[in-house]
Amino acid sequence: METLILKHQEKSKENTIEMVDFYNEATEDYAFWSKDLNMHFGYYRPFLNSPFRRNTMLNEMNNQVLKRLNLDKDKSTIIDLGCGVGGTMRYALKKIKGLTAFGVTLSPFQVEKGNALLKHLKGSIINENYNQTSFKSNSFDGALAIESFCHSGHDKRSFKEAYRVLKSNGRFVIADAFLKKETSELCYGSNYAYRKLCSHWSLERLASIKTVKKDLTDLGFKNIKVEDVSFRVAPSVLHVPFAITGFILKKLFAFKSLKRESLHNLKGSFYALLSGLHMKSFGYYFISATK
Ligand SMILES: C[S@@+](CC[C@H](N)C(=O)[O-])C[C@H]1O[C@@H](n2cnc3c(N)ncnc32)[C@H](O)[C@@H]1O
Repeated sequence: METLILKHQEKSKENTIEMVDFYNEATEDYAFWSKDLNMHFGYYRPFLNSPFRRNTMLNEMNNQVLKRLNLDKDKSTIIDLGCGVGGTMRYALKKIKGLTAFGVTLSPFQVEKGNALLKHLKGSIINENYNQTSFKSNSFDGALAIESFCHSGHDKRSFKEAYRVLKSNGRFVIADAFLKKETSELCYGSNYAYRKLCSHWSLERLASIKTVKKDLTDLGFKNIKVEDVSFRVAPSVLHVPFAITGFILKKLFAFKSLKRESLHNLKGSFYALLSGLHMKSFGYYFISATK
């Protein structure tokens, strides 16, 4: 048993090192995905944004998460747990004048680039682990995690830390892909896409939606709301093949070679699309809850 736990911890450490390297090297590629450097999928609102305009859907994802945080517009403080280069933070700070935002990421490249982009805004990014931050308990009105907790396998530790740093009645919102069933129940095709997705995007695993709901309840979160928004996210996932082709062509025309991390990222995006097609096994969800 002890050897098994040690082996798991070793694997987890390796995954983290690989993930940090991945983001240090491949973050700049996201400029091709999003001009605002949003490192996530988008949210489509029929008649309000166009499924052909990716950047508006990516920013709509920020808008939807922000809406669910129910922040006081005059004065509030949020933390973005796994913030990338602060795309969501910048969106929020421009929209809500009384807001102060903090973000944590493990990638030093993202800290430097993100803080440069936040220069004239009330936001700051630090190089910390979202599973164990240095913030005092009961500090924030809102905590969010967009496609970041998957890197730690949607582990209970990550939710526990979000709970700890939130003020009483503070809101937590996560937007991410989850399994609709346990890994042991996945069919051959879903299992293949899932394994490849995890290895190419350095994801420890994806938790099942049922497990996450239970973990949040056990931790003391109230008013837990789970929304399956897969169909709203699908139009932006369908941009993946076009974005990949465009990115490769641009590199070829500039006579530039592809970095190993960039190639890994592109393959990961392809497996995200492949996983998304297995709609009985995977779903994209918003989960919101109150402390
Ligand atoms: C796919 S990106 C999403 C970034 C951002 N949420 C967005 O939507 O633009 C995942 C982010 O999670 C961060 N991350 C992964 N594991 C982390 C950890 N244990 N602690 C802090 N950040 C982490 C990565 O550094 C990266 O910034």
